[in-house]
Amino acid sequence: SPLVVGIDKGEFFVSSDVLGISKHTKKIVFLGDFEMAILGKTFQLIDVKTGEKIEPKIEKITWDLNEADKGKFKHFMIKEIFEQPIVITNIAKNYRDQIKKIAEMIKVARGTFFIGCGTASYAALAGQYLFSSVARKHVNFAIGSEFNYLEHYLNNQSLVIAISQSGETIDVVEPVANARKRGAKVVAITNVLGSTLYRLADQRVLLGAGPEVAVCATKSFIAMISILIFLSFEVAGKGDIASKMLLDASKNVSQILNNKYLEKIKKLATLIAKQEHLYIIGRGLSYPTALEATLKLKEVPYIHSEGFAGGELKHGVIALIEKGTPTIVFAPEDETYPSIISNAIEIKARGGYIIGISPKNNEAFDYWFEVKDLGEATIIPNVVTAQALAYYITIARGLDPDKPRNLAKSVTVK
Ligand code: G6P
Repeated sequence: SPLVVGIDKGEFFVSSDVLGISKHTKKIVFLGDFEMAILGKTFQLIDVKTGEKIEPKIEKITWDLNEADKGKFKHFMIKEIFEQPIVITNIAKNYRDQIKKIAEMIKVARGTFFIGCGTASYAALAGQYLFSSVARKHVNFAIGSEFNYLEHYLNNQSLVIAISQSGETIDVVEPVANARKRGAKVVAITNVLGSTLYRLADQRVLLGAGPEVAVCATKSFIAMISILIFLSFEVAGKGDIASKMLLDASKNVSQILNNKYLEKIKKLATLIAKQEHLYIIGRGLSYPTALEATLKLKEVPYIHSEGFAGGELKHGVIALIEKGTPTIVFAPEDETYPSIISNAIEIKARGGYIIGISPKNNEAFDYWFEVKDLGEATIIPNVVTAQALAYYITIARGLDPDKPRNLAKSVTVK
């Protein structure tokens, strides 16, 4: 596992990912561990341990083939960035019932843990901030690969919410399997129906983002965040507010993906493309935002970028600022605004070049991207701006945004 068999009239297809065979058939069987498929004129599924036949469960994939094509776009990454308004609207309109179910599980659990790797870990960390500010509830966050070392005290009252686009990341799947052995309940938030994580879980929420082909995560992150916003508001008894907030966010993302805004991003991208280092700061929910923006800039255009909590500046980071060092500052109009602006001023005083992403302009900013004030959902246009910036820096550097070096879409080995 992961291994999938596609079935069509008189022919079979084998792949490690549905995407590899979706052109040929939509009827899929997902193999579990210790299961073997024998393909000949017929299809047989065998339990390797007992040698006995198993009745194969044939699943139908629901998404359209065209979703896995580039269409009018040059690259999958930019196509997937443009698909985000639909992904958010789908969650806002259709997810209430499943969100309610998970919210009930969180309410009765004695200890909820959000886990994920890479981009999904920043969504999980954002979940911790959202549950504090919106649901006023303590939840824990851990990076998937570290959760093995933090889960010794889990029991049958614990709840693990595992987040993974692919549902195959070994550093998420393994600690989840261990958590289950300790009796914990598991919720999977994943994009891939039938994935290992999907099958391991007691409850599942599918991201509904459609196939994500570019290696770096864009629309899957926005789907994860939308679900977590919804969940935190539902636990607070305010699910209606979240649904409206997400619809506003969807609208704002459509607005910023216009020519004028993208031209502004392209202009900055050509400046940054020549830089070696870049720093990104944010506080509160904008801290995981900064980390996710940083990852995009590392993964695709290979810029050495570092994300920090604004308050950490004075504890060493500020020593790195030189004349002209570009620094992105996430400054939503929330409780973090005065302090993050004061951090921006400190960087500017040491020669830093400040790129503000905020609903309002500030004299500390050398370059300003205007996003709408959407409360907690401001994280959505903030991240979309960073995704587009990463894309256009990659283009300015003459690199391929869909296939970054050394990276794989799903990491199934340790
Ligand atoms: C890989 C990708 C990252 C991704 C991470 C987690 O390392 O390069 O972009 O965030 O895996 O993937 P997952 O499928 O678990 O969300």
